Formats: sequence, structure tokens, C-alpha cells
Amino acid sequence: MPLTGKHLLGIAGLPVADIELILSTARSFREISTRPIKKVPTLRGRTIMNLFFEPSTRTRSSFEIAEKRLSADSLNFSVGTSSVSKGESLIDTGLNLQSMKPDVIVVRHWAAGAPHLLARYCGECAVVNAGDGMHEHPTQALLDALTIEDHKSEMEGLKVAIVGDITHSRVARSNAILLKKLKAEVWICGPPTLIPVDFEQYGVQVTYDLEKALAEADVVMMLRTQLERQKEVFYPSVKEYFNLYGLDRKKLALAKKDVIVMHPGPINRGVEIDPDVADGDCSVILEQVNNGVAVRMAILYLMMGPVEETTR
Ligand code: CP
Repeated sequence: MPLTGKHLLGIAGLPVADIELILSTARSFREISTRPIKKVPTLRGRTIMNLFFEPSTRTRSSFEIAEKRLSADSLNFSVGTSSVSKGESLIDTGLNLQSMKPDVIVVRHWAAGAPHLLARYCGECAVVNAGDGMHEHPTQALLDALTIEDHKSEMEGLKVAIVGDITHSRVARSNAILLKKLKAEVWICGPPTLIPVDFEQYGVQVTYDLEKALAEADVVMMLRTQLERQKEVFYPSVKEYFNLYGLDRKKLALAKKDVIVMHPGPINRGVEIDPDVADGDCSVILEQVNNGVAVRMAILYLMMGPVEETTR
């Protein structure tokens, strides 16, 4: 069964049935990555273009690995050596790449809405949002949900605390929307300067008090302070930020005994999370990365499915 829409632009437009289908398909794909030969012919003959206008380690690598494991042909479009550096627009870039007949374009862009623009103007192929500005990062939220479900029997009613720089985080927005769709209890926490005033619209609890957010939490999701997006000073010093909002063992003790600690990466050790916690028994951070491959395999498969062979 395919996904409802042609594109995957955000969690906001993704029905719960599609979320559940992606997660169950990802579970079934995980086994492929444990085989000695980590490759199936499912997407043989399909072409995928990866357009990353922003740096990425996890998302870019896992899309590329997912494409290779499904035998798709993939092209990694390098912005720095492309004609974008000569001033070519996103739409012109997309239209020219679309002329080469890819099946899917995966795009990460610094501007919110860039994948939506590509989908509108280059809609012959499917578009996947791999993170757009401060807006959404849908594939991250899906791999996070898969990781939570690996550890917790029931998403409904789970207390999930999302802590840190909420304002600049597309991960926070996609996760808040997805977790509420799956009926979790979501707490958003950070300094008042780093939480948008309208965040309650997602049905989440907002607090500036880390102790409240952590109390009896089942899941703690720490977020990076995104210095590259911060145009002004949002807190007095890193030391003060860590004292109030950084996660260490002592603060984590407020959460449930079987709490899991998540982080989308990259981690700022000693800024939002103590290395003891990042590398500790409760941490599932590298499981998140592992699940990223399976989730992206599932998404690409559900968007394209097996190719029908034609012969001449
Ligand atoms: N989580 C995440 O999006 O990481 P990258 O920026 O390395 O892709």
C-alpha cells in the first residue's frame, strides 16, 4: 500500500495511517542491514537525487545508504560545485534536475518551505523534505518515533520532554506534531528566549522549569543549541545554560527509572548534555541513527515501490 500523498513534506500533512505504515515497513526493513550482503533489488532502476543545501552527517549518509541498500541509482548533488554558486535559483536548479527524470528528489535547505516550492514547480517527481530551515524535519521525527516504540510498549500517554533550543529546531516541531498525533503527552522546555510564543498550538505543555519537564518523564529528547541560526544572544553564557537546561545524571534522576535519552545530533557535549548521559545506559542516541536508515528505506520504498520491468 503506498503513502497517501505523492510527496513527504512534513509531519503536519501526514495521516496517522501513513505514520504507522512507515514505522511498520521500517521494522521489516531493519533486517536487511544485518545481512552479510546488505542489498535487495527492490528499487532497481529508480533514480534518486539528494540535494543538500546545508551540512549534514546523519540524514545525508542514511538516505544514501538507504538508497544503495534498495539498489536505487543515487546522485549526490553537491551545492558548492554546482551552478547554485553562480546564482542559479532553487526552482531553476530543480527544473533542470527534473529534466533528467529522477523518481525522487530529497532536499535539505536552509529556507523553510523550500521542499514545498520544489514540489510545486518540479512536481513530476516526488519530493522528500530532509529538513527545511526552522520548519520541519519529518524523517527525523519518524525515526525518533520508531526508536521510542522500540523501548516503550505504548505511545499513548507517554511523557516525552523535549528540551533545549525549541525556536530554531525543526526536529522539535516535527516531533511535537507527530507525538501528539500518536497521543503522547509532550512537554516542551527551554529558556523563554528559545521557545516560540505560539508553540502551545501543537497541544503541548510548555514550561521553563526543567525539573517539571523531567519529573517522571518516560522519554527525554535533548536538542542542540543551534548557534549557526541564532542571530542574537539568547542566554548569558554556556555555563549558565548548562546549569539550568543541560542534562546531567543528577537531573535525569527526576525522570522514570526506565527513561530513555534521545538527541537528534550533532551533540554539543557539555552544553546541552553531559557526556556521562550521552554515553550512559539510558542513551539511545546511536539507535536513533541506526533507525534512520530503516525509516528512510521505508519511505523511499513506499513512495516508489518495486519497478515494473519493460523489455524492448
Ligand atoms: N539529525 C540530523 O538531521 O543530523 P544531520 O544534520 O547530521 O543530518
